[in-house]
Amino acid sequence: MNVIDYHEPVLLKETVSLLALKEGDVAVDCTLGGGGHAFEMSKKVGTEGRLIGIDRDGEAIEYVNHRLKDSELKKMFHIVRDRFSNIRKILEAESVYGSVSAIIADLGMSSAQVGSPKRGFSFYLDGPLDMRMDHGSGPESDLGGKTAAEMVQGFSAEELSAVFTQYGEEPCARFLAERIVEEREKHEFLRTKELAMFIEKIYPKKMRSGRIHPATKIFQALRIFVNNELGEIETFLPDAFAALKVGGRLGLITFHSLEDRPVKKAFQNWENPLLNAHLPREIPLLEKEVQMRYPKKGKTIRPFPQKPSIEEIARNPRARSAKLRVIEKLEK
Ligand SMILES: C[S@@+](CC[C@H](N)C(=O)[O-])C[C@H]1O[C@@H](n2cnc3c(N)ncnc32)[C@H](O)[C@@H]1O
Repeated sequence: MNVIDYHEPVLLKETVSLLALKEGDVAVDCTLGGGGHAFEMSKKVGTEGRLIGIDRDGEAIEYVNHRLKDSELKKMFHIVRDRFSNIRKILEAESVYGSVSAIIADLGMSSAQVGSPKRGFSFYLDGPLDMRMDHGSGPESDLGGKTAAEMVQGFSAEELSAVFTQYGEEPCARFLAERIVEEREKHEFLRTKELAMFIEKIYPKKMRSGRIHPATKIFQALRIFVNNELGEIETFLPDAFAALKVGGRLGLITFHSLEDRPVKKAFQNWENPLLNAHLPREIPLLEKEVQMRYPKKGKTIRPFPQKPSIEEIARNPRARSAKLRVIEKLEK
């Protein structure tokens, strides 16, 4: 498959430029996908440098290995199939934890994952209601975890409603969860289309929004839950920041507010640790003392997140909601 068909990298030039890599650097791409960002980053670090690529998806790893087969860039690459929440363990095994120059995570799914019916991410394509990014092929098989079908079949109405609310911000969460639980007594929801068509049939008319498919938020919620996406980000952020050397940069590309919120908050806390500090009001502190007690740990590279250009959105509509945030580490 052509690399652009596999996945067109989002904010590619901007990411590579803001990560400011130099020859000989160690760089980590935590969401390798089709290798779009990683290949460009590996060109920057050159043959003296290293590019560590991580992905939880066995098919992505296979695809990048295939792309690298006859490539000059192969020398720089070290590829690991794992979740990025394990970044500490992965980089300690490579003896680079604390000395990395740049880390990137481009969150969410690749176009290849969404476009593959057997992965079960899309409500437009019929396939098993799976949604595990960890799903792999060959002897490595899966890294574990429930499928979306197992959730839809096994969770109570309360549990489903909580997932739809928390991870989909779905206004009809309770109603949809109860109807799904009633319906599954008659027949199991095992395929994407079965669930999507049922939601389309029952979704209250007055609550629909424009041309957006009524199953959009439900599919998003199931996917986020199945892959523990927010938990992955929460564990990853402090460990990724700790993995950087002083002057190293961490970048995240997010696609919706549930992903962006923890990133924005972590960056704010590193840039301004005073935000979370409980200063004793009764004991006045000099500004110098405050700075000594709560030193800045990082500096965001731009005051606002980098967004794609109009040209990029016209070429690749998937980029429209992307936001890139980059922070530089100031001290250990
Ligand atoms: C948007 S794609 C990345 C595309 C890539 N930057 C490129 O240019 O081709 C996201 C990738 O991250 C992987 N991924 C998502 N969450 C992950 C996690 N917690 N740990 C490891 N990989 C993850 C997915 O399997 C997917 O391949």
